[in-house]
Amino acid sequence: MTNRSRWMLHMTIAGIFVLYSCRTHYQKASENYRLVQDAAAMERGKNIAYNVCGGCHYNRELNKFVGHQMKDLPKFIGKVYTSNLTRSKKYGVLTHYTDAQLAYLIKTGIKHDGRFIPYMIRPTMADDDVNDVIVYMRYAEDPALEPGDTIVGTTHLSFLGKLANSMTQKPQEYKTGIKRPDPNNAVANGRYLVDILGCYHCHSKNVLGLNYANPEDSKGYMAGGMKFKTLQGNRVRGANLTPDKGTGIGKYSQADFHKALADGKTPDGRQLQFPMPKFKRLTEKQIDQIYAYLNTLPPKYHKTR
Ligand code: HEC
Ligand code: HEC
Repeated sequence: MTNRSRWMLHMTIAGIFVLYSCRTHYQKASENYRLVQDAAAMERGKNIAYNVCGGCHYNRELNKFVGHQMKDLPKFIGKVYTSNLTRSKKYGVLTHYTDAQLAYLIKTGIKHDGRFIPYMIRPTMADDDVNDVIVYMRYAEDPALEPGDTIVGTTHLSFLGKLANSMTQKPQEYKTGIKRPDPNNAVANGRYLVDILGCYHCHSKNVLGLNYANPEDSKGYMAGGMKFKTLQGNRVRGANLTPDKGTGIGKYSQADFHKALADGKTPDGRQLQFPMPKFKRLTEKQIDQIYAYLNTLPPKYHKTR
């Protein structure tokens, strides 16, 4: 191919992507939605709010859900700040949402105005969990939700960032009728947690291969390899969490696994690096469920460091 025709080819491909990424408006939420409020919803909602939404929206310096910068994204994307979910009249975003729109946003990634936000899609979240997290965010008496009158930053995506997002993430179908797993089934709960906590978002092969509707069909599901940079700029890859003895977590005891999740330490005492989050607010039971589930996966030999 001559340089000129190669250039033409590249421009054509770029053009197609630009057109493709121009689709910015999607179907909006319908209004038939009824929130169910009770003590159980409040308690479960807290767990979901801190463990699922909190990973991105809770600010550990300000101890509030005011949002922060997502530092695990590649630099070329631009800067992404998560929204203020406190009851701030000025900066809080929840007041712009009806319950129906919020439920719709959580599952599909589509905002109240019909635009798509990447990163936070949870299409498989159980209807009751969606209900409970909305109850908590709206009505809980929690200092972390009291007005945080601050804006931590404004998202600015680069052209390439927009392109990359439109290629890797799409609005999901709004599916209802999804039930929570049977509380007595540890493995099913573990699978569900790996899904809604987004472990597989970082512990599979790459972003392109993720399957949000059927997480287990993601490429290299839970066998690690996804590339990240630590805050110091060093390379690190999502670890292999299949039960392989040499390269996965096959040698982890249940206690080891607790330490890795809650304290960020491996059995040999190594500090796990960013962007591996600390999961301090999961219950012991939830951690055991994740451990039980991961041990049912086929062991895969895959070195990630
Ligand atoms: C992986 C990170 C991540 C997770 C997890 C996450 N969010 Fe978000 N959220 C974002 C980002 C990024 C934005 C967009 C900020 C912006 O506008 O630039 C956002 C925006 C929002 C908005 C504002 C939308 C608007 O109209 O501007 C709401 C409301 C919201 N999130 C609620 C939630 C709730 C509730 C949960 C938990 C069920 C959650 N988010 C989980 C990253 C996340
Ligand atoms: C934002 C990305 C991200 C998310 C989300 C994430 N991890 Fe990780 N995790 C990593 C990275 C990167 C490493 C490797 C860190 C290192 O080697 O220092 C890691 C390492 C680990 C390790 C240590 C394995 C070893 O090498 O011994 C365990 C265990 C682990 N993660 C479990 C989980 C579980 C369970 C979840 C969900 C509850 C989860 N992670 C969510 C990025 C993530």
